[in-house]
Amino acid sequence: MNNGKAIEVQDLHRHFGDIKAVQGVSFDVRQGEIFSLLGPNGAGKSTTISMLSCLLQPNAGDALVMGHSITRRPMEVKKAIGVVPQEIALYPDLTARENLAFWGKMYGLRGKTLGRRIDQVLEIIGLVEQQKRPAGKFSGGMKRRLNIGIALLHKPQVIIMDEPTVGIDPQSRRHILDNVKELNRQGMTVLYTTHYMEEAAELSDHIAIMDQGQIVASGTHDELVKIVGKQDRVELTINTESERVLPAWQAIDGVHKATATDSIITLLVDESDRVLPRLFEAAIEAKVHITSVTIQEPNLEAVFLHLTGRALRDG
Ligand SMILES: Nc1ncnc2c1ncn2[C@@H]1O[C@H](COP(=O)(O)OP(=O)(O)O)[C@@H](O)[C@H]1O
Ligand SMILES: [Mg+2]
Repeated sequence: MNNGKAIEVQDLHRHFGDIKAVQGVSFDVRQGEIFSLLGPNGAGKSTTISMLSCLLQPNAGDALVMGHSITRRPMEVKKAIGVVPQEIALYPDLTARENLAFWGKMYGLRGKTLGRRIDQVLEIIGLVEQQKRPAGKFSGGMKRRLNIGIALLHKPQVIIMDEPTVGIDPQSRRHILDNVKELNRQGMTVLYTTHYMEEAAELSDHIAIMDQGQIVASGTHDELVKIVGKQDRVELTINTESERVLPAWQAIDGVHKATATDSIITLLVDESDRVLPRLFEAAIEAKVHITSVTIQEPNLEAVFLHLTGRALRDG
């Protein structure tokens, strides 16, 4: 266990009946880094995380977590990791502190050691003031933070977080992202999943883009963005259904990929300053009004669109 890798995923497969949730996923997470799995809903992120956390058996393949096989040494793996699941698991009638104490005891912590560790964890997750309130009375963001605290109790080497910022208020989101960075600064390896490209971009040393059970690309943020080269992402809103003008736009030289939802159309284009006038010309010809235009330099969203022909957020 000194090859510098915290997690080595080797060709994992998992199906549910006919649904191939994970089909041949491999990636390495280096010790001390933040690694993100970025993909839309249904990509297979949670299934992958569940296998790495030994909550779900793979149908084929294996993974090593801190050198321990998830199929042959699940107990060792569980000691090395803290898991923040997508679904919040708390006892609503117990206070924050009591929830932490319950889980701390499950990990074998007792007495003063447990008390001290709970104090430390409450400090990290910023819930010292609220520790005596029942978890059931917490906001979604505070519940999520308490779940993170539970995952940290046994001082794991690796923390695995499954979409920890979905459906919570911006302040809690900021708190969690800062927590992730601070834990990593102190040496913890982080495996993070999200469908928000901004979070993957902000946090990660390495990112694997996942779609339909497979990794479609991986690398650093800059390496991934280079995949789309100089293409800009142009988002146009029109006053009618997208079909009225989409075929004409797609026929323009320099327009590569297009996705459309109702009246919003997203295009990947070479040199937007050259293509934009032609988009307007085609719109006038089709008697369609463009009500807004935004142009974005290449980002992970554009990479996903380029690789899959779909938008990350379509789910
Ligand atoms: N327990 C399950 N039973 C049946 N299908 C499942 C189960 N868990 C996940 N799936 C399916 O597997 C695919 C991947 O799901 P999931 O891993 O949850 O994706 P993600 O976390 O990226 O949104 C989806 O099509 C989902 O509906
Ligand atoms: Mg999920």
